[in-house]
Amino acid sequence: MNTIRHKTKLAAAITLALATFSAQAAEVEVLHWWTSGGEAKSVAELKKLMQAKGDTWKDFAVSGGGGENAMTVLKSRVVAGDPPTAAQIKGPSIQEWGAEGVLADLSSTAKAGNWDTLLPPVVSKVMKYKGNYVAVPVNVHRVNWMWVNPAVFNKAGAKVPTTWAEFPDAADKLQKAGFIAVAHGGQPWQDFTIFESVVLGVGGPEFYQKAMVDLDQTALKSATMTKAFDTFRTVRKYVDKDFSGRDWNLATQMVIQGKAGMQFMGDWAKGEFTAAGKKPGKDYLCVDVPGTQGDFTFNIDSFVMFKQSSSDAKKGQEDLANAIMSPSFQETFNLNKGSIPARLDVKMDKFDDCAKKSNADFVASSKTGSLVPSIAHQMAVPAATTGAIQDVVTQFFNSNMSSKQAVEKLASAAKTQ
Ligand code: BGC
Repeated sequence: MNTIRHKTKLAAAITLALATFSAQAAEVEVLHWWTSGGEAKSVAELKKLMQAKGDTWKDFAVSGGGGENAMTVLKSRVVAGDPPTAAQIKGPSIQEWGAEGVLADLSSTAKAGNWDTLLPPVVSKVMKYKGNYVAVPVNVHRVNWMWVNPAVFNKAGAKVPTTWAEFPDAADKLQKAGFIAVAHGGQPWQDFTIFESVVLGVGGPEFYQKAMVDLDQTALKSATMTKAFDTFRTVRKYVDKDFSGRDWNLATQMVIQGKAGMQFMGDWAKGEFTAAGKKPGKDYLCVDVPGTQGDFTFNIDSFVMFKQSSSDAKKGQEDLANAIMSPSFQETFNLNKGSIPARLDVKMDKFDDCAKKSNADFVASSKTGSLVPSIAHQMAVPAATTGAIQDVVTQFFNSNMSSKQAVEKLASAAKTQ
């Protein structure tokens, strides 16, 4: 009798335990814009980890490089009172969302996980709103890269340019040999990505900081900025006639397939080379944008969590935050994504030479003042200002606007709040 009662009690306990377990299997809906080959492979790692924790991953992917489409969709969901569990948001926008009062406070997870010691200050600063963690970083991307097909350069007898003065000669040679010199997708954020690198190469990091981060009117209206627009115009001469609207990863494919010589793009482009089985140093080269040797425009991807009332949802958010910060995720994700881990303690042994260079330059540039936030990737100034400046850059790229006019427009766009 006693044994039977004991067995019944045990069965009840097991049923209860199972029910509790399944109640804790949270569904996490995650908004992101990682839809290219390399990006999709990277985000699949996060999904795997969450599933291993017993959570259900609800993918909320909004295509469109640079994330503009994703941000529009996100706003409408939040306004409708139905935010996703987590969303890919970065830079000063984290502050803007924080001020709306809709973000979950991740302080206790961050404290338990020692995030303050694991993350470099340049990263942790971006993740906090009023001193509390509200975002989790997945990586550090470097934007000022030039992706080169060395076979194409060889065939054209062209030398990889290290300064903007050398650039036209190399580009001319590539064109004469029948190649597209610059693989580019004409979308505003891609134009802006080239522009910020040109500003850095022409003016140097101190100038970049003054103009693109501090929005200093004198720097914005300076002769150096006029020169940056002139150089940007030169780059425009070397893109093919079908560039308008092309996605960035299709432009990367042009370099991979040997149709084009080079592309100016952040190291998410490396994710495409990696996904295509290409090897750095052999099939392609990662080179500093002319004139930016050792400088580093950083772009940190991160996720915020939206306030939730149910304990299941909160558990899902905690699982997600812990998964993102785990060393194994930071390693695998970034091997696929082209970026470097946000955590300082992840070993770089498995990473290629491009990532190792990025890592070394990230550390070195943080000491010399040549580590600057990417404006094109929403790390430098508030979203409205970024948008206004980007509009000027794109208008210039797609018209005959003079550099002098562009400088005036740029300086007034920088006043947009
Ligand atoms: C993001 C990258 C992404 C790229 C292209 C950037 O703004 O930081 O993670 O791969 O846009 O979509």
